[in-house]
Amino acid sequence: MGPFDWLPHAPLESLQLDWLNGVELAVLRLDRIDPLISGNKWFKLTEHLALAQAAGASGIISLGGAHSNHLHALAAAGKRFGFPTVGLLRGHPQDTPTVLDLKAFGMQLHWLGYGGYRARHDVGFWLPWREQYPHLYPVPEGGGGIAGALGCGVLVEQARAQLSSVGWADYDAWWLAAGTGTTLAGLALAEAGAHPVYGATAVPDDHGVAQNVRALVQDGYELLDASRGGFARVDPLLLEFIEATEQASSVLLEPLYTGKALLALKQQVEAGRFAPGTRLIFVHTGGLQGRRGFAT
Ligand SMILES: Cc1ncc(COP(=O)(O)O)c(C=O)c1O
Repeated sequence: MGPFDWLPHAPLESLQLDWLNGVELAVLRLDRIDPLISGNKWFKLTEHLALAQAAGASGIISLGGAHSNHLHALAAAGKRFGFPTVGLLRGHPQDTPTVLDLKAFGMQLHWLGYGGYRARHDVGFWLPWREQYPHLYPVPEGGGGIAGALGCGVLVEQARAQLSSVGWADYDAWWLAAGTGTTLAGLALAEAGAHPVYGATAVPDDHGVAQNVRALVQDGYELLDASRGGFARVDPLLLEFIEATEQASSVLLEPLYTGKALLALKQQVEAGRFAPGTRLIFVHTGGLQGRRGFAT
């Protein structure tokens, strides 16, 4: 498989919102890198793909849910670059818009049920799949791990190269949604302490995000719980906030990650956490395909 000579460009854009109270915000638009391979997913995949290539694999096997942005980007990449993909799915067969796309992109699907999916961290989980698909390289859920994080380091370079386009000479910090925390870890590693990275977590504390991140990077970041009572829980205030943001700007959000992360930022700005004049880069991590599963 490969070579994958595609380095997408994420535009950096100013974002004016009436609650910013003097805080300056620029958005790194990963949602705009490509119509299909959107968001942080391609960046998280790049190092995994390089490892797969080095291992002589012919394709990729990975896992996720029925709205998974990761599987969506992986399947789209497989179709675009001509390598086979297999997706192991949580739950029982259903045709969500995401799943229909996975099939259309040619990904081969196996539904593991809920118990079967919960066993994904068990020693030996991969053995039968490795036997069935010896030529496919396994990528962890969400494209995580150190390889996933290292692939996101390039985002720091891309943002820095565009600071003048938003009228900045420098910036003060990053703000982004965290699911596994892999993208956040990648930014913190690339920053090496130069600018702090704030991660607004889409899942509650007991999901182990802090441990995940700590295994990848020791400092230069802070996690804040933005889950609003649970992963994928949506409430009226969140939906109103997303609608208001979309009306006030050209930025579309989805409720699970980017909507919750930006709302958490608003709450922190309102609480006076950032002084007027602070320049923050908000990473739009994409995921808009997943919002077809929600009535927003
Ligand atoms: C749209 C979107 N934003 C953010 C994230 C979180 O990324 P990470 O798992 O690297 O923290 C994900 C996936 O988990 C996602 O799909």
